[in-house]
Amino acid sequence: MQKINKGLDLHSSELLLVLDNISEYAIQKSRKGYIPLFNFALKEIIHLMDAKAGNIRLFDTSIKKLLLLTSYGTSRKYRKMKSAIGVGESIAGYVFKTGKIYFSENLKTNHLYAFPELALKENINSLVCIPLLTREKKFGVLSIYYPEQRKFIKEEMNFFSILGTFLSTFLSYQTAQYQLHQIYINIATILINILEEKDKYMKSHSERVKKIALKIAIKMKLPKDKIQIILDFGILHDIGKFNIDNSILNKPGPLNRDEWEIIKKHPLDGARIISPIEEYIKDISFVKYHHEKINGNGYPAKLKGAQIPVLARIFTVADAFEAMISDRPYRKALSPEQIKKELIKNAGKQFDETIVNITLDLMNSEELNEFIQPLTGSMRNN
Ligand SMILES: [Fe+2]
Repeated sequence: MQKINKGLDLHSSELLLVLDNISEYAIQKSRKGYIPLFNFALKEIIHLMDAKAGNIRLFDTSIKKLLLLTSYGTSRKYRKMKSAIGVGESIAGYVFKTGKIYFSENLKTNHLYAFPELALKENINSLVCIPLLTREKKFGVLSIYYPEQRKFIKEEMNFFSILGTFLSTFLSYQTAQYQLHQIYINIATILINILEEKDKYMKSHSERVKKIALKIAIKMKLPKDKIQIILDFGILHDIGKFNIDNSILNKPGPLNRDEWEIIKKHPLDGARIISPIEEYIKDISFVKYHHEKINGNGYPAKLKGAQIPVLARIFTVADAFEAMISDRPYRKALSPEQIKKELIKNAGKQFDETIVNITLDLMNSEELNEFIQPLTGSMRNN
């Protein structure tokens, strides 16, 4: 891509191209949060506008300072000396305070700029500083530094203004997403508390299954977002049992057919309970599908093979593993060798073969030992 050397050589089409690049990056990487986008945007702007350096600061509400989030083209000494700036301090602090874009054509004579000698050493002679804010919130500032004293033309000023609005909108969106996610976690916590009220064994069982599923998922090198779903919501896999009477859940003997039919409703009941958040957290479908079998003989949907979401396949194995390591009123916990035999026997029938192999690896490397100990409980694997 062609570089833009002088303000007077600027073309609107080139500036639009920068915005287009940044927008495309934002669309593709929005799940990764704002830091990668800001790194990318900063490098793009500096490169294309032939600037010397730049940085982005965000306001930290706890210490009331503008902290350096990302910096490009500056020295370590500069980053250390200017890692935190107070509101109103230097140009960045002034721009944050006023909420107005600021251009300085000659930093040597600028009375607002703190440490002008440092700027000279860094070969910085002019700058533009853009507030990152929306109508509701001030987020921080973006600064772009140039090696030469220079004038800023109208196209550049408009460009920086649009750029500031764009980055602020993205920050606002990310903040809203984060807050929404926290709300979901709070909802999950409420549901977990309901579970605990229902039956203390159910909570400890659910927690162990979650931890086992987590070990399997990490060993499988699943993407971070899927692992996060297990961490945040894994404990909810049996939330549908909320509806089942304790006399059935804790029956000290085999269940009759009617009781089994009641037990088999819990994945659908669970899916209904979590349906308000399902639209936003699509991988939470493991609540609905954690009793499907790889050969299609499970419930409730009789899904087969890869039709079953990977998290559901993991929970099926983790759930069964947890059941086998637990004492029951009618049987003792199985030994590790018996568990391995059961897993191998059911690989390709009830369980995903790959996940069985991963679980066997975890057992052989003693990574599941913390779970393999005599437990007293009354939950069954259902
Ligand atoms: Fe279940």
